[in-house]
Amino acid sequence: MAPQLDAERWERLELKQQAVETLRGNDRGGYTVPTGTGLYPAQWNWDSCFAALDFAQFDEPRAVTEIETLFGGQWPDGMVPHILFHGDDSSYFPNASVWQAGPAWRSSGITQPLVAATVVRQLFDCASDPAIRARLTALVPKLAAWHRWCYAARDPHDTGLVSIIHPWESGMDNSPLWDDALNAVEPGPPVAHLRKDTGFAAADHRPTAPEYDRYINLVIRFRDNGYRADRLYDIAPFRVADIGFNAILQRANQDLRSLLAATGDIASAAEVAAMEEKTGAAIARCWHEEDRFFYGVDTRTGKIIRKPGISGLLPLFADAEVAARHPSLVERLESWLARVAYGVPSFEPERPEFEPQRYWRGPVWLIVNWMLINGLRRNGCPDLAARIRCDSLALVERMGFAEYFNPLTGEPLGGSGFSWTAAIYLHFLAGRE
Ligand code: GLC
Repeated sequence: MAPQLDAERWERLELKQQAVETLRGNDRGGYTVPTGTGLYPAQWNWDSCFAALDFAQFDEPRAVTEIETLFGGQWPDGMVPHILFHGDDSSYFPNASVWQAGPAWRSSGITQPLVAATVVRQLFDCASDPAIRARLTALVPKLAAWHRWCYAARDPHDTGLVSIIHPWESGMDNSPLWDDALNAVEPGPPVAHLRKDTGFAAADHRPTAPEYDRYINLVIRFRDNGYRADRLYDIAPFRVADIGFNAILQRANQDLRSLLAATGDIASAAEVAAMEEKTGAAIARCWHEEDRFFYGVDTRTGKIIRKPGISGLLPLFADAEVAARHPSLVERLESWLARVAYGVPSFEPERPEFEPQRYWRGPVWLIVNWMLINGLRRNGCPDLAARIRCDSLALVERMGFAEYFNPLTGEPLGGSGFSWTAAIYLHFLAGRE
């Protein structure tokens, strides 16, 4: 028995080293690309935040730089774009020349889930070096500006739920949750011949051509409207108050409030507390009593998006009491796990929309596992959290640092040498959840 344990320990040590090397290898000097394969040759917003979480374990200053670079691309109105283009982006479509957005066209014109405050809070709480704390403190007003932008631009009627106006803003690009809303969008000119992603990953693991045509048509609509925050909410042909996006925002509100209080900005902390209160109440209203699940809503049609996607489990990340209020939510998660070899699938298995290999329509994503584990622990469900952690480690140890994984077989999918998979693996090994 003992030699086997030693072999396992060895393997982990080696993988830990490989995880560090993966992050270092994807480091482009001040920011990290999601993968070195060319699939994503720029800085993606939430990818960078997850990378920072883990740089923190072996290079704290570098972790802070990652977030500083991200906020270097913040727009004057507070928005932090979902992509910052720093260098040669010719292997990506749509690249900077298509977006034509931001100062000097160096960004996309939409945002991504607001995980940054949660990450900065973790860095802040662990930092003992006053120089690191000072740099993190300087980021706090910028985080607050992003949250303010989000409410002003995406919840102009003050409902407590913010809307996304492009599936890419959710971070879960082709989730079945967007199917109906996206089908209502004009496809625009076909762009299949311009796509670059299918040159790096199998076409049946990626979004389909009709989805891509619509993604690009949305970009063109926003570009034609000058990306004006005061216009896009009303003109957006796609507009959804996603439960996952709002749950991540709600968690980030809590972490931002704590950062503001710790850095002495009491007035802004009170302002964020008010955001937290209204979003907390709005998320609670998204509980569907009959289906015993959380659903978002299409804010153009007013229709509930009655589909069991991973987004509906993310209130666990936002609210430490949700499992006590709705024990059936945790039972539902357990029932998903019982139907796969590796958790957590991004959509409920055995549903017609479930596709175990296609991007956000079924595969496992380690960053989502991290949010669920973190939330389950806060909700007093450590055993379930441990099960998901164990699956996550096993996936990497058997299959490597893939972008995402087939929940039925563990097959590695998408890009390889992926920053956020390496980052979350390191995070779990360090016992930080
Ligand atoms: C895909 C994912 C998105 C991620 C990006 C870079 O677009 O859906 O969440 O940020 O790739 O990894």
